[in-house]
Amino acid sequence: MKQFVKTIQVTIKGILYWLRPHLYLSFLSKPALLFHNVIQMSKWIQKNKQANILDDFFTFKRDHQKRYELYDYILKAKGLDQVECDYIELGVYQGQSFKWWVEHNTHPNSRFYGFDTFEGLPEDWGLHFKKGSMNAVSIPSIQDERAQFIKGLFQDTIPGFLQETPLNNGKRKIIHFDADLFSSTLYGLGMLSVYLKPGDIVLFDEFNVPNSEFYALKMFEDSYYREFKLIAAVNNYYQIAMEVVK
Ligand SMILES: C[S@@+](CC[C@H](N)C(=O)[O-])C[C@H]1O[C@@H](n2cnc3c(N)ncnc32)[C@H](O)[C@@H]1O
Repeated sequence: MKQFVKTIQVTIKGILYWLRPHLYLSFLSKPALLFHNVIQMSKWIQKNKQANILDDFFTFKRDHQKRYELYDYILKAKGLDQVECDYIELGVYQGQSFKWWVEHNTHPNSRFYGFDTFEGLPEDWGLHFKKGSMNAVSIPSIQDERAQFIKGLFQDTIPGFLQETPLNNGKRKIIHFDADLFSSTLYGLGMLSVYLKPGDIVLFDEFNVPNSEFYALKMFEDSYYREFKLIAAVNNYYQIAMEVVK
């Protein structure tokens, strides 16, 4: 019986590929993935929601300025203002969030690394942002010797950076994923995973977009067997902060 079911499965799969469904069903791919990820996101909310943390779910109003409330909340709750840390931001644009963290962590041995093409998104994102959107035009200027920017595609710059920079140094990691794209976020998570230890902090800036940062985190957690705990959220999980559990 088992063998019979297996034969049927293999045959159906073969026929499906032989029919070349991509020629006439491709239009279903994105909505189907979106549908899948909306369900997953809803499940994620139920699983990760915590009592007694900053969390405005459900709110009708989205206010991007609330992310500073979130930063401030975790800064105080986790003592991140004084801690010796490596702050890594993937997706800097004009440096708004990056500068906030440089200004609010005062430890002299902290280091701040900001990665970006500074020439905009490397691919289209959703319906509204085309490749090249968010072109910063120039690298932001920052008057703090602890901070540096690394210009280029993450996929080109991160491998060399990791070879040159000793991140296995015991410092607390604060990693801010603000690249919007699924590909960029998943790539960053995968490359930096080995440096993430329990107690480290990860931030996402467009988390509740189902096919982008959320999907990347889901793929990452499932594939790398890592676990994070929600410690703060604003704008219905648009911006979130998590702590590494394992
Ligand atoms: C939303 S913006 C960052 C906003 C910024 N953190 C702030 O506070 O205003 C997203 C940035 O990610 C960058 N980005 C996305 N994918 C990238 C990649 N693979 N390599 C380099 N930069 C990337 C884009 O160039 C863009 O500047």
